Amino acid sequence: MTQGPSTPAEDLAAPDRQALLAAAARFGTPLYVYDLDRIRARIRSLQGIFGGRFGVSHAVKSNPNIGLLAGIADLVDWFDASSFAEVERAMAAGCPARRISFSGPAKRLEEIRRAVKLGVGELVLESLREARAADGFAAAFGQKQAVVLRINPAAVPRQFGVNMAGKPSQFGIDEEELEPALDAIAALPNLDLKGFHIYSASNSLSADAIAENFTIFTALFRRAVAHTGRPPEKLIFGAGFGVPYLPQDRPLDMEALSALVCPAIDALLAEPMFSESRLILELGRWLVGPFGWLVSSVIAEKASRGTEFRILDAGFNTHLAAWGMMGSVIRRNWRIRNLSNPDGAPGLYTLVGPLCTTIDTLATKLELPALAEGDLIAIDNSGAYGLTASPTRFISHPEPREVLLEGGAMREVTESLLNHWTLADN
Ligand SMILES: Cc1ncc(COP(=O)(O)O)c(C=O)c1O
Repeated sequence: MTQGPSTPAEDLAAPDRQALLAAAARFGTPLYVYDLDRIRARIRSLQGIFGGRFGVSHAVKSNPNIGLLAGIADLVDWFDASSFAEVERAMAAGCPARRISFSGPAKRLEEIRRAVKLGVGELVLESLREARAADGFAAAFGQKQAVVLRINPAAVPRQFGVNMAGKPSQFGIDEEELEPALDAIAALPNLDLKGFHIYSASNSLSADAIAENFTIFTALFRRAVAHTGRPPEKLIFGAGFGVPYLPQDRPLDMEALSALVCPAIDALLAEPMFSESRLILELGRWLVGPFGWLVSSVIAEKASRGTEFRILDAGFNTHLAAWGMMGSVIRRNWRIRNLSNPDGAPGLYTLVGPLCTTIDTLATKLELPALAEGDLIAIDNSGAYGLTASPTRFISHPEPREVLLEGGAMREVTESLLNHWTLADN
């Protein structure tokens, strides 16, 4: 297995501590802070890493904050939306419909109708039902709808956090049914099949596993094209690039990944059928995850039967993933910092949220510099699947605000103040 660089993961995305403290002082906690400058630099870095072989599509679901999307809209080639509301978010962020792809296995007919009417850049077909519906709406509007077919591979390498392939799945067309599906789509006159899409697994820190997965993708793309006999305009690689959530994780080694992937991509592009194809990496967490933090305050200290609890104002209601409830089999302590007192004497703390359930546990016996009531902590790697993936209504604590750091300034991009108190203080 290819190892990541020797740099400790700790260094990957050390926050600007003063900026987080200043943001918390101004906006209160819990607070999500996203470092837009570093997110933008990371998106740009992909061009260098892969020598311009791939364009980039940002998966809106990973962080749909409109302010954040607007901050990266000029750098990404596409936004991938998985609901019509995400299509609207991308547009509200300044992205034209033609640069939006619309994926997701449960598209309502009304969502398909609106997407076709708007002229979204492409509809990612997850089923023949969607193909027929899109064809019908395109006919009704007197237009052709660009589509890509999502293929669900029969195999996926190990070492991905979550995988959606190699088993019964609601996503895409099973590769076992690829050719008949292509024939069915070819018979729909109002669809323009631009190419193929595969997203079969997420969150891998192994360059080998991702490269192996891409080899599975390219084999399927070749097979599809052998059947259609048409050069595809577009091939979407659901990248699956992971983020080092746990202290012992090493970041994905992008140099090693590039060395493994680029020759295979060059071989594909050298084939006449693929020489004009545009390749796209579709991803979210690797782009925005490491440069976001959830900042939370210690509301209370409590010692119970030998355990030092620190009770936070953020719980799984604000960050389901960090609390281990988004696809993890076993909850593990994430990378967490004491922002207020980084040089204090180390102690062992169990960090819990404000919810009335024992499952609201963020970290168990985590070593941190002395942590007291009123101190602030930051949870690393919170830029993706943070607020958006959290059940913020539970127990009606104030929903976190969201802030962007940009050019040395901070800007609030909060979209809702759910559960913020509205009664006058008397
Ligand atoms: C179709 C599709 N594309 C892209 C993504 C983004 O994945 P990640 O944020 O892990 O890069 C997902 C995540 O589930 C997805 O389902």
